[in-house]
Amino acid sequence: MKENWFVPYKYRMVEKISIPSKEKRVEILKKAGYNMFQIKAEDVYIDLLTDSGTGTMSNVQWSKVIMGDESYAGSKSFLEIKDTVEDLMGIPFVLPSHQGRAAERVLNSVMIKEGQYVPGNTHFDTTKGHIELAGGRAVDLTIKESADSSTYHPFKGNIDLDRLKEFVEEHKREKISYILLTVTCNSGGGQPVSLENIEETHNIAKANGIPLFFDAARFAENAYFIKQRENKYKTWTIKEIVKKMFSLVEGFTMSSKKDAIVPMGGLIGLRDEELFKNLQTPTILNEGYLTYGGMSGMVMGALAQGLYEVTDYEYLHYRINQVKMLGEMLIEANIPVVEPIGGHAVFLDARKFYKNMPESQFPAQYLTAALYEAGGVRPIEVGSNLVGRDPDTGKNIRPKLDLCRLAIPRRTYSYEHMKYIAETIKEVYQNSDKITTGLNIDVEGTGIRHFSTNFKLVDPKKDSLL
Ligand SMILES: Cc1ncc(COP(=O)(O)O)c(C=O)c1O
Repeated sequence: MKENWFVPYKYRMVEKISIPSKEKRVEILKKAGYNMFQIKAEDVYIDLLTDSGTGTMSNVQWSKVIMGDESYAGSKSFLEIKDTVEDLMGIPFVLPSHQGRAAERVLNSVMIKEGQYVPGNTHFDTTKGHIELAGGRAVDLTIKESADSSTYHPFKGNIDLDRLKEFVEEHKREKISYILLTVTCNSGGGQPVSLENIEETHNIAKANGIPLFFDAARFAENAYFIKQRENKYKTWTIKEIVKKMFSLVEGFTMSSKKDAIVPMGGLIGLRDEELFKNLQTPTILNEGYLTYGGMSGMVMGALAQGLYEVTDYEYLHYRINQVKMLGEMLIEANIPVVEPIGGHAVFLDARKFYKNMPESQFPAQYLTAALYEAGGVRPIEVGSNLVGRDPDTGKNIRPKLDLCRLAIPRRTYSYEHMKYIAETIKEVYQNSDKITTGLNIDVEGTGIRHFSTNFKLVDPKKDSLL
């Protein structure tokens, strides 16, 4: 179908990338302790570590960079964001922050009282971290289908409404700070949440006087999936769906590095003026004055424009389809991926990929390193290394899935790149049955350990991961 090949851009600027030799890549991996964060970007051919801040801005966004208003107070560029949020989302109060996690810090420091819960659909790691830092506990109530990589469910990011009702009944309003829906659900495989599920969650929240918030980093991708997969909304425009989604929440935090397609930035959006006022001091102390909050005027102008561009149907169709194409190339080769393919990334199921490797030997971490060795492709582990240890018991948490995430930056790589990535994965998969040993932790990182933990091969005699 020619629609699948529709790209609503032409390119007039390129950036040279190259690949180190195979021998060099083996050496680089060893030196990096098989940790993707420890590899220099210039040693990476295709960088799929994240879709965060790595997208390509449009010519109109670049024009906004030049027009950026750097005034400390009352910046025109900030007012453009505020107007855009009001126009697209119908949310009147906006606070800026330098990125998503900063917005989380500001919000949670005020919202959470010691010991309170924040139920949701698989919180992102920084979100969970900030909830815990503020004395709270993140509770994952995602539907059970999310744990099975091979069953199809159109909205695997949905929260389990029965479990949510039970949780609210058991713990009552006072023990619950707010409910959080992450759209789309990054840690759950980039899976969307349906509007029906958002509406039902809203009803439970409202009936119990509990505020409902979005982690809205990929709100537009979620809206596209609603249009594609939820019959009731198939004739709605993306902007109408976005408006409806946000009409059901009290507020949101957003990493603008994803769906606003800027390299840096974050936002808090709120309906309640009193909460807005309460968050002003932590914003000023942590981020900066209320009309820049850690962002430059240049970024803010591009961010406001990015929010409009991301809600364009043609852009979203091309974006989601590119990710899907990569996924389909892998499915055709019988490679175990999380299905259906998510919005911003393809996730490989590493336990199924390496059937003969013990689960305790970090199969997903191993797979990230193997893909780098095979083709200079840099993915990220979303599994046992990332989830770390239980804060109460100190024991390693065994997650439902051990995933290797191939995040696709927005408007950055071509179809040829997708094909190269698929061929690299196929090459690694060919021999995967024969891989019986993985990685052990050499030096464990502190805090969110996946950035800094160094690994060593379980079998020290091995000189290749393939
Ligand atoms: C769902 C989600 N929430 C929050 C964040 C944190 O945002 P930032 O990286 O801008 O701090 C991310 C980042 O990847 C994310 O994916």
